[in-house]
Amino acid sequence: MLALKKLVKNNVYWVGKVDWELQKFHGNEYSTHKGSTYNSYLIQEEKIALIDTVWAPFAEEFVANLAREIDLQKIDYIIANHGEIDHSGALPALMKHIPDKPIYCTANAVKSLKGQFHQDWNFQVVKTGDTLALGNGKELVFVAMPMLHWPDSMATYLTGDHILFSNDAFGQHLATEKLFNDQVDQCDLYNESLKYYANILTPFSAVLRKKLTEITALNLPLEMIATSHGVVWRDNPLQIIEKYAQWADDYQENQITIIYDTMWNGTKILAEKIAAGITLAAPEVVVKIYNLAKRDVNDMITEVFKSKAVIIGSPTVANSVLHSVAGFIHLMKGFKFKGKKAAAFGCYGWSGEAVKVINELLADAGFEVVNDGYRNQWNPAAAAQEAAVDFGKELAKI
Ligand code: FEO
Repeated sequence: MLALKKLVKNNVYWVGKVDWELQKFHGNEYSTHKGSTYNSYLIQEEKIALIDTVWAPFAEEFVANLAREIDLQKIDYIIANHGEIDHSGALPALMKHIPDKPIYCTANAVKSLKGQFHQDWNFQVVKTGDTLALGNGKELVFVAMPMLHWPDSMATYLTGDHILFSNDAFGQHLATEKLFNDQVDQCDLYNESLKYYANILTPFSAVLRKKLTEITALNLPLEMIATSHGVVWRDNPLQIIEKYAQWADDYQENQITIIYDTMWNGTKILAEKIAAGITLAAPEVVVKIYNLAKRDVNDMITEVFKSKAVIIGSPTVANSVLHSVAGFIHLMKGFKFKGKKAAAFGCYGWSGEAVKVINELLADAGFEVVNDGYRNQWNPAAAAQEAAVDFGKELAKI
């Protein structure tokens, strides 16, 4: 059974769903080690507005719970900040009860909602600066947020209470019964916010930089940011905007991440020796090693996001690289990382093309490949291991 509504502020309530069991999101594309929430908000002024709904599997629960809180017929407006089904998935169940109520959304959201649900609901298209009066001197102001992260995305600002309903932006996949950012573990909050940015918003960093400037220029008083995943930012809500400004600015830390796959551990040995070399030459650099076959892809993307350089390793197989390595570089390409350096390494038995292939893939993915890489024939003996340490020492200079 859904939790009862939770007070956000004055006449604003959370009426969403906490999903403690969620392990994968976007199909199997995003790991959610700490679950998630689908946040929906009910604003009960003279007019009553519902902002977003929840993911489809929880639609019936959502509607039943909402009906216990309020006569559904009394809802005046539905705001659909975004068409993706983790927020719109309960619309069909809800609209069965109130089929004629207006749904305020962007023109692109009409396309996405119609495309997914094939319903001709009472769509009311809005654009940046449009307003909707709620009575009691309060109104909603709409702000288009195209490509953050879909073309249909928007945010909605509530005057008077000074709450920005930001939808996906500033969210985290973090299940919690607590509502506010100051009530949860701060390490969990930071790590999940960072992972969320790295894995969902990185490709749109350039768009985000412009949008943050635009939002800041509006000079709207901001007391809370009510996201659609995770907590409501009420304690210094500007902190997450400042973090987004840093993360959107081709973010990197003093970190080098080594990511490899291996067949008979030769490439694994090289990975560890390269890491040792980096640490010997530059103890201040954070070095992390991940075996692609054993680690979570999204966690590794987060580490790449934080890195100034990535070192990718693969043995040679069938004149190329292991598919895990090719797939991971292809994934990195989609994130459009900027300003990151890279290098390659790997063991081989016969023809030895892997390092060259990795270099080509990394260059194509937008990384600056800093050298020809290091490759070793057969399992690395002491001299080869020492050479890998030296290779690491060289990489420490980048
Ligand atoms: Fe883009 Fe949370 O959906």
